[in-house]
Amino acid sequence: MTRHHITRRTFLTGAGMLGIGGLVAARLPGAGLAHAASGPQPLHHRIPGTDHALPAVGLGSWITFNVGNDPVLLKNCTDVMAAFFAAGGAMIDSSPMYGSSQATIGHGLAELGIDREQVFATDKVWTSDEDGGPEQIDESARRWGIRQFNLLQVHNMLDWENQLPLLQDMKAAGALGYTGITTSHGRRHDLLGIIMEREAIDFIQVTYNPLDRAVEDRILPMARERNIAVIINRPFRGGRLTKALRGQPMPGLAADYGAQSWAQLILKYIVSHPAVTCAIPATTRVDHVRENMAAITPMPDADKVLLPEGKERHAIARAIEAAL
Ligand SMILES: NC(=O)c1ccc[n+]([C@@H]2O[C@H](COP(=O)([O-])OP(=O)(O)OC[C@H]3O[C@@H](n4cnc5c(N)ncnc54)[C@H](OP(=O)(O)O)[C@@H]3O)[C@@H](O)[C@H]2O)c1
Repeated sequence: MTRHHITRRTFLTGAGMLGIGGLVAARLPGAGLAHAASGPQPLHHRIPGTDHALPAVGLGSWITFNVGNDPVLLKNCTDVMAAFFAAGGAMIDSSPMYGSSQATIGHGLAELGIDREQVFATDKVWTSDEDGGPEQIDESARRWGIRQFNLLQVHNMLDWENQLPLLQDMKAAGALGYTGITTSHGRRHDLLGIIMEREAIDFIQVTYNPLDRAVEDRILPMARERNIAVIINRPFRGGRLTKALRGQPMPGLAADYGAQSWAQLILKYIVSHPAVTCAIPATTRVDHVRENMAAITPMPDADKVLLPEGKERHAIARAIEAAL
């Protein structure tokens, strides 16, 4: 059987996968129960309805990891991943839409010799070809250098009527840990709500930050009600928010939560929403990945991370709006 003749049936039964990557062969790895090599552990949030938990900050890969074969840039991405795992990070998010990012992740995992249990491999299916999902997923796994994903999401809900059942069937067959759907920039929340109501899904991925709060009205409460885990993309508005805040004095309330930078205050705001499982900032910088993970890691002299609640969260959003 060639890669171009994988049918949905052979993919799910494994006959189409074992020869080209063996996605069904292995036991699903642990759900991101990674631990930093030493020192305090990052805050974990439970995946609703399960005994598994994920660090509340993961790592995005759009643009930042699309570096092609450039050895210097590849090494830089590997360094970012090394710092992420050293700080106890687990979820890395990618997509077949992100150029060479999947291969960059695969390169980093291999270079670093990362134990499969340490990474919560999160990717997407992104095709409007109703039979195209299996082949694309298999190619994504090959690029990562793994046998199966912890989480696969229907990217931007593209062809979700065909692709979501594929992911649900893969999960039922033991070839996938969790299913999900994504959107961003506040787009198509009506459709997102309908899918959340009608379908069995484990995760949604949406945009949320102190300026983009549309999901607070309906989507986040629905996720809580329905035990759906929530991943937050574009926590820094693609970097525009942190850039706009650069050089602005930090508000006094930042110290109450141990936030030493605007980026940390934003991440604390996001992950303190009771519906949010994790945020996935992307970065090209080792110091930034450390800073982002530090936002959810207790200070050396503390036993837990300081996070805002209720009205305090509103005060943070107002302080950020005022600083712009
Ligand atoms: N529909 C979808 O499924 C969808 C849509 C959008 C995004 N996503 C996912 O979500 C991830 C995150 O979204 P995003 O990449 O669009 O935007 P983002 O994470 O909001 O912003 C990334 C930018 O933030 C900067 N940054 C990161 N940490 C920082 C820090 N501590 N201080 C200052 N700047 C910092 C980075 O610059 P430096 O390199 O200089 O650190 C980078 O340019 C994506 O990578 C992707 O995995 C999914």
